[in-house]
Amino acid sequence: MAEPLRLGIAGLGTVGTGVVKIIQKHADVLSKRAGRPLKIVCVSARDRTKNRDIDISDYDWEEDAVAMASRDDIDTVVEMIGGSEGLAKELAEKSLQSGKNIVTANKALLAHHGFELAKLAEDNGASIGYEAAVAGGIPIIKAMREGFAGNDMTAVYGILNGTCNYMLTQMRETGGDFNDILKEAQEAGYAEADPTFDIDGIDAGHKLALLSAIAFGTKPDFDSLKIKGIRQITSTDIEYAEEFGYRIKLLGIARNEGGKLMQVLEPCVVPVSNPLGVIEDVYNAVYVACDSLETPLLTGKGAGEGPTASAVMSDIIDQARGLKIPTFGIPANDLKDPEWTDLGQTSSRYYLRLAVLDKPGVIADISAILRDQHISIEGLVQRGRDPGQEVPIVLTTHETKHADMLKACELFKGLDTVVDEPCLMRIEELE
Ligand SMILES: NC(=O)c1ccc[n+]([C@@H]2O[C@H](COP(=O)([O-])OP(=O)(O)OC[C@H]3O[C@@H](n4cnc5c(N)ncnc54)[C@H](OP(=O)(O)O)[C@@H]3O)[C@@H](O)[C@H]2O)c1
Repeated sequence: MAEPLRLGIAGLGTVGTGVVKIIQKHADVLSKRAGRPLKIVCVSARDRTKNRDIDISDYDWEEDAVAMASRDDIDTVVEMIGGSEGLAKELAEKSLQSGKNIVTANKALLAHHGFELAKLAEDNGASIGYEAAVAGGIPIIKAMREGFAGNDMTAVYGILNGTCNYMLTQMRETGGDFNDILKEAQEAGYAEADPTFDIDGIDAGHKLALLSAIAFGTKPDFDSLKIKGIRQITSTDIEYAEEFGYRIKLLGIARNEGGKLMQVLEPCVVPVSNPLGVIEDVYNAVYVACDSLETPLLTGKGAGEGPTASAVMSDIIDQARGLKIPTFGIPANDLKDPEWTDLGQTSSRYYLRLAVLDKPGVIADISAILRDQHISIEGLVQRGRDPGQEVPIVLTTHETKHADMLKACELFKGLDTVVDEPCLMRIEELE
C-alpha cells in the first residue's frame, strides 16, 4: 500500500467537521480513489472542549494551528478557519513556504491574496486546492481549470450567493419585504446573524474575483470590483420585474470586452426564459461562455456542510494523486494585471423604478430627462393612486450607455416629485 497522505485540519466548524466525517465514513473507498490512504494526523480549533459530534481522540491537538506548517509528519494543511487576514493567512503562507500543499474553502483569503499565495505555492513546489471556495456543490474550479481549458472563455456569469438567491426567491413567492424575509432567513439558518457579507455582495464578489482570474488569466483583483448588494430591492421591484417577464438575481458578471475586462457584482434583471432566471432558493449557478462549447451552465448548492466538505474532499483526493495545477490555471508569473473597461461606456438595457408623487406633469419631466440623455423607453408601467400620493413608475429601456443612465438618475433626484433613490438594474440576457 502506498504511503498515506497526511493531513492537518485547522478549523473544526461547519466545514472542518464535515471533512473529518467524510474521511472517517468513507475511508476505504477514498483510499482507492486517491491511490493511497488519507490519514488525519492532527486537528486544531479555538476551543478544545467543545462537543463537535465527531471523534477526534486519535488525532494530535494543536493549540496553535500555525504549528502545522512546520510539522514533518503533515503533507497537506486543510485550512478551514476563514478570514482574509490573521491566522488563516499566516497558516497558508507558512505551509506553502515549507512546501506543504494547502486545501482551503476561504474565498476571502484568495480574493485578497490569491496572486501572492499562488506564487508562493509555485516557488515551493506546492499546490492550492480551493474548489470549496466558490459554489461548493458545483465543481466549477475543476471545470474551468481543467474541463474548459481548451476554450477561450469570454464571459462568466454567476449566481454565487445562496443566501441572497433564497431571499429574492422568498420575496417573489410570498410578496414579503426585504427586512421580514431577512429575519426569516436568519431564523431558518440561511442567513448569518451579521448578514453583511452576504447581502452586500462581498461574499459573491470574492468568488467572482477568483472565477474571473481563471477565465482571463489575470491576477484576482477584488479591490477593483464594483459591488452592489440587494438591500435596495423591494417587493415592488420583484413584482414589476415579473410583470415584464423577468426575475431579479444578484449576478456576478466578468466579461472580456475587446481585450478589456468588465467585472461587476450587482442585482440584475434576468428574463425568466433565461437558464439563470430559473435558478431559485439557495441554489448557485455559473455560466461560462466558451468558444467551443454551447452554454455550459452548472448549478448546485453553494454552501452548507455537505456540499462544501464534498468540494474540499475533491481537492484532497487530487493532491493525494499528485495532481498539481497552477492556482489560477496558468503559472502565477504569467497572470496579468487586469485592464478594466470604463463601466460608463458599457451599454445595456435597463430596468428603472422611480418613486414619484402622482402630480400632473411628472411623466413629462421624466420623459424630458430620458430624451436629453438619449434614453429610449421600451416599456413603462404607472398605476395611479389618489392624486398627490406616492406611486412607482417602472420602465425598461432599449440599449443605453451606462453613463447616460447614471446621469439621468442624478437628474431625477433633482425633481421635487421624485421622493426616493431611483432603483436601476441592468437587464442581462447572457452572451
Ligand atoms: N459554512 C459554509 O457553508 C461555507 C461554504 C463555503 C465556504 N466556507 C468557508 O469555509 C471556511 C470555514 O467556514 P465554517 O463555516 O466552517 O466556519 P465556522 O463554522 O465558523 O468554523 C471556524 C473554525 O475555525 C476555528 N477557529 C476560529 N478562530 C480560530 C483561531 N484563532 N484558532 C484556531 N481555530 C480557530 C473555530 O474554532 P472553534 O470551533 O473552537 O470556535 C471553528 O472550528 C471559511 O473560510 C468559510 O468562508 C464555508
